[in-house]
Amino acid sequence: MTVRFDNRVAIVTGAGNGLGRAHALLLASRGAKVVVNDPGGAVDGKGGDHAAADKVVAEIKAAGGQAVPNYDSVADPKSAANIVKTAVDTYGTVDIVVNNAGVLRDKTFHNMTVEDFEFVVKVHFLGTAYVTHAAWPIMRANAYGRVVVTSSNSGIYGTFGQANYGGAKLAVVGFMNSLRLEGQKYNVLINALAPVAATRMTESLMTPEALAKLRPEFVSPMVAYLCSEQCQRTGDIWSAGAGTFARIEYREAEGLRIAGRAPTIEDVVDNIEKIADVSASRVFRTSGEEVAAVVGGS
Ligand code: NAI
Repeated sequence: MTVRFDNRVAIVTGAGNGLGRAHALLLASRGAKVVVNDPGGAVDGKGGDHAAADKVVAEIKAAGGQAVPNYDSVADPKSAANIVKTAVDTYGTVDIVVNNAGVLRDKTFHNMTVEDFEFVVKVHFLGTAYVTHAAWPIMRANAYGRVVVTSSNSGIYGTFGQANYGGAKLAVVGFMNSLRLEGQKYNVLINALAPVAATRMTESLMTPEALAKLRPEFVSPMVAYLCSEQCQRTGDIWSAGAGTFARIEYREAEGLRIAGRAPTIEDVVDNIEKIADVSASRVFRTSGEEVAAVVGGS
């Protein structure tokens, strides 16, 4: 089956480099009209330069595709709304939002300033919320929408020196978990990507051999699937990189149940291995299911 995006309007944030560029090029090559958002600037978010977005727009056009640049930051509600306005003014609507924009300000927590913490949270978490918030009513009214949030192994599994980044990257998963429930009835589906790719953000962390295998274009097919009409899944986390694709989920152990009396500290201490044992674990799709499993039967 050939996947196409004809007549679909896509926003890709942070599309001037790395993964965002690869996502934008793939969507455009399959017929999408793409808003290439990127204010430019360094990996830490300092500076700015229209060339980043302009170059990718030129690449898309040279290949016969349709694209328009936008230079607004996702990290402010007004400028984020302007990214969506660019899509509506240029192409009449928005069907697809790929929240990809990102920055790094790595430091061990004791050396990290509150400013560097807030800045990273603003770009990754609030930026995702601001852009999606502006696009959501349009997609809901159209009864069609596909949203991707970009998470990271750093948030899911942990990376030394990335408390700001890891926190923000798991925040977008919590955000998705709620919007999954709100959007499904309107055919507005949302999924999270956990990519691994060699970009200017990660190249200093990897060996040359690893870099060669980790081309950003190897991640984009997953993103394109999540943006497609073929995708009927919502609320999942998808790992993609180096040609590997895999769903990630979290599970809850069967645990310990104390019924008929108040539990004590000693119940926890004496049974900690049983509480921690996930060999008979369960997957919940809403917090209500989890609460019912805990409360039920006691
Ligand atoms: P990159 O640095 O090549 O691209 C990020 C882009 O976001 C840049 O073009 C930058 O100008 C843009 N950007 C920064 N602040 C922005 C803002 N306020 N508004 C709009 N755009 C902004 O990095 P890469 O690796 O392509 O990262 C893309 C996304 O993937 C990020 O969200 C990153 O956290 C995530 N990610 C990347 C991984 C990797 O292995 N490369 C691993 C896990 C997650």
